[in-house]
Amino acid sequence: MADRFPPDIDMETPSIARMYDYLLGGKDNFEADRKACEVLAAGTPELVSFANDNRAYLSRAVEYVAAQGVEQFLDLGAGLPTANNTHHAAQRANPRARVVYVDHDPIVLAHGRALINDSAETAFLLADIRETDRVLGAPETRRLIDTDLPVCVMLVSLLHCLPDQDDPFGMVHRLTERLAPGSCVIFSHIVSDDPASGAWMTDQILSFGTPWGRVRSPEEASAVFRGLELASPWTDGREDGGPRAVDCASWRHPDVPPRFRPEDPGVKLWELSGVAFKR
Ligand SMILES: C[S@@+](CC[C@H](N)C(=O)[O-])C[C@H]1O[C@@H](n2cnc3c(N)ncnc32)[C@H](O)[C@@H]1O
Repeated sequence: MADRFPPDIDMETPSIARMYDYLLGGKDNFEADRKACEVLAAGTPELVSFANDNRAYLSRAVEYVAAQGVEQFLDLGAGLPTANNTHHAAQRANPRARVVYVDHDPIVLAHGRALINDSAETAFLLADIRETDRVLGAPETRRLIDTDLPVCVMLVSLLHCLPDQDDPFGMVHRLTERLAPGSCVIFSHIVSDDPASGAWMTDQILSFGTPWGRVRSPEEASAVFRGLELASPWTDGREDGGPRAVDCASWRHPDVPPRFRPEDPGVKLWELSGVAFKR
């Protein structure tokens, strides 16, 4: 398999993109990634299901946003291509939808190139999302995204990869301030209401030598929605005063009513999710 990867890839240190690929049942990962996932899953058995729930949430959220008339998607921390990518979901709702995928992992670029071949309305950018000016000013972005029109910024299972010193939520606010009204964020973040469980996962990932941020509390992660208007998490858009940022498995799911956290009290980690618009 190594011949399918660029030569400068570090195969010994687990990478978040490759670990996530493994959790989703993909083949673009190495032994170090698989071992790291096994260590995490031993302490957090819900890991595989919440990775898959997160990916399904991404598709539902993208289809919803595209159906609201947003045609431009900036998929930050896009990850390795998988079965149902952002442009597939967006173009199902609106064939004119355009997507710029951004990730800092060179493996994602190598596989992303194959992905973009199947659509002229997509581009792939190898960049660190902390370099906002570089992301917005790159030729790939300027070709497909007009910041005078609404843009959907995707932050799906991403900001927990950034430590507090990078000010991830401040970075998002500065980015959304530059976007037109009608823009939105699609967000999910690994959270825990049990500090020990969150700290365990954070410590494990950092012990692999993998650059990472931390599991945050739901309240900390909700900072991303400051100044934005959260969309209803119900499939029929009802306004019933319940939680708006919810467990990803329940966001606009046809069979699961929105819930703030997983029902099973034994499950300590989940992806807090929501879609919010700039008005
Ligand atoms: C858990 S994956 C999520 C993939 C996809 N967004 C999803 O939810 O299906 C996180 C991705 O963010 C990328 N990432 C982490 N930090 C990043 C950074 N500073 N700049 C760009 N990409 C980053 C990783 O390489 C990885 O592919």
